[in-house]
Amino acid sequence: MKIPAPLCRKLEKAARAAAQASYSPYSKFCVGAAILTGSGKIYSGTNVENASYGLCNCAERTAIFTAVAAGEKTVKAVAVYTPTKFAHAPCGSCRQVINEFGPTALIISVCNSADRHAGALSRLLPDAFGLRHLKSRR
Ligand code: THU
Repeated sequence: MKIPAPLCRKLEKAARAAAQASYSPYSKFCVGAAILTGSGKIYSGTNVENASYGLCNCAERTAIFTAVAAGEKTVKAVAVYTPTKFAHAPCGSCRQVINEFGPTALIISVCNSADRHAGALSRLLPDAFGLRHLKSRR
């Protein structure tokens, strides 16, 4: 999905700001995410870890669940920020959750250097499983 450059910058800034609140005492890996929804609003989120490691929630999913809880149903773009040298794309679980609400979403990854990635979710999650597959059941 094509998103105007100034809006992309705004999203990246929101992702960077969200990482400040990261609760990551176990991995010490801070992540911030910001999503642009169908209504044009931006929602942000951070990773929230737990002493029971399997319960850790990624920044992208925190942002998406917050948006959905506010009544949003579509995601146009996702920005992910990590305070690292290289930009990181969303993990596999987050790609699947993004697909639920934004199969054509633009995914932007930024970090503390000039390294950055931007591309369609379909490039990161080709041939995704989704609602259409459930509809094809007999
Ligand atoms: N993490 C995210 O927030 N997003 C991703 O896409 C990958 C991983 C978090 C989960 C955990 O808190 C930490 O990064 C290390 O895996």
